[in-house]
Amino acid sequence: MTLALWKGHVAIVTGGASGLGAATASALAQAGLKVALFDLGEEKGIAHAAALGGMFCRVDVADPASVKAGMDKVVAELGAPRIMVNCAGIGLAGKTVGRGEAHSFEMFDKTIRVNLIGSFNCASQAAAHMIAAEPLGPDGARGVIINTASVAAYDGQVGQIAYSASKGGIVGMTLPMARDLADKGIRVCTIAPGLFLTPLLDSLPEDVQRSLGAQVPFPSRLGAPAEYAKLACHIVDNPMLNGEVIRLDGAIRMAPR
Ligand SMILES: NC(=O)c1ccc[n+]([C@@H]2O[C@H](COP(=O)([O-])OP(=O)(O)OC[C@H]3O[C@@H](n4cnc5c(N)ncnc54)[C@H](O)[C@@H]3O)[C@@H](O)[C@H]2O)c1
Repeated sequence: MTLALWKGHVAIVTGGASGLGAATASALAQAGLKVALFDLGEEKGIAHAAALGGMFCRVDVADPASVKAGMDKVVAELGAPRIMVNCAGIGLAGKTVGRGEAHSFEMFDKTIRVNLIGSFNCASQAAAHMIAAEPLGPDGARGVIINTASVAAYDGQVGQIAYSASKGGIVGMTLPMARDLADKGIRVCTIAPGLFLTPLLDSLPEDVQRSLGAQVPFPSRLGAPAEYAKLACHIVDNPMLNGEVIRLDGAIRMAPR
């Protein structure tokens, strides 16, 4: 992938210290972009940013002031962001009513704040910087925003009410955001991953990982973070991809539990 139009420009990746975000940051850096990682995980984030020759900002995506501070630092030190990839996310499990108790409000609220509002905070603030930047190439492109939903937006399992709601919100946000920003030359797409082998699943015993992988029709395995990164780079590279949510899941449709 050449990403020729965006070489030397700035990409911000949230959740860039780990998993899908870390792999995407690596791929973008390899393609010649200047990469900034927004994450709460300082130790891993600093190490990964150093390995990529990029910068790390300790940012809580759920907090608009923290996002603004990170964004200002990036603009001052690297330049305006042209690529914004939202990978930061959490998955807290809980049923609508569990053991006779209504779902914890705090858990639901936190999941929506980090996953949905966090993506909105970063996308909207990055877009404001993109709009002020010079248009590039024959189409007058100013930037690309990629959000990360999940197949749980469509086939949420028992215990995923908060997570599925947050990811469904990201799916719903994709087209109107693309429409809002179309006349500014900014594209917006969302990737809805299936099961990927990130630290999240890495901690599970190998037989559990295998049985999860076996549920994927083809290829019957967990996805690799590099495969997510490949699609993220393709979205950045392909000017006709806009306003769409793409499932990246080996055709899995999650069972109720
Ligand atoms: N791994 C999968 O199978 C899978 C499947 C579907 C969707 N996803 C989604 O992909 C994204 C990345 O997941 P992953 O598997 O790489 O997870 P991960 O846990 O490896 O990485 C997530 C990163 O987000 C960071 N983060 C969490 N809360 C944050 C906050 N408030 N502010 C800033 N950073 C924060 C964490 O520190 C971590 O580094 C998530 O949104 C997740 O919901 C993952």
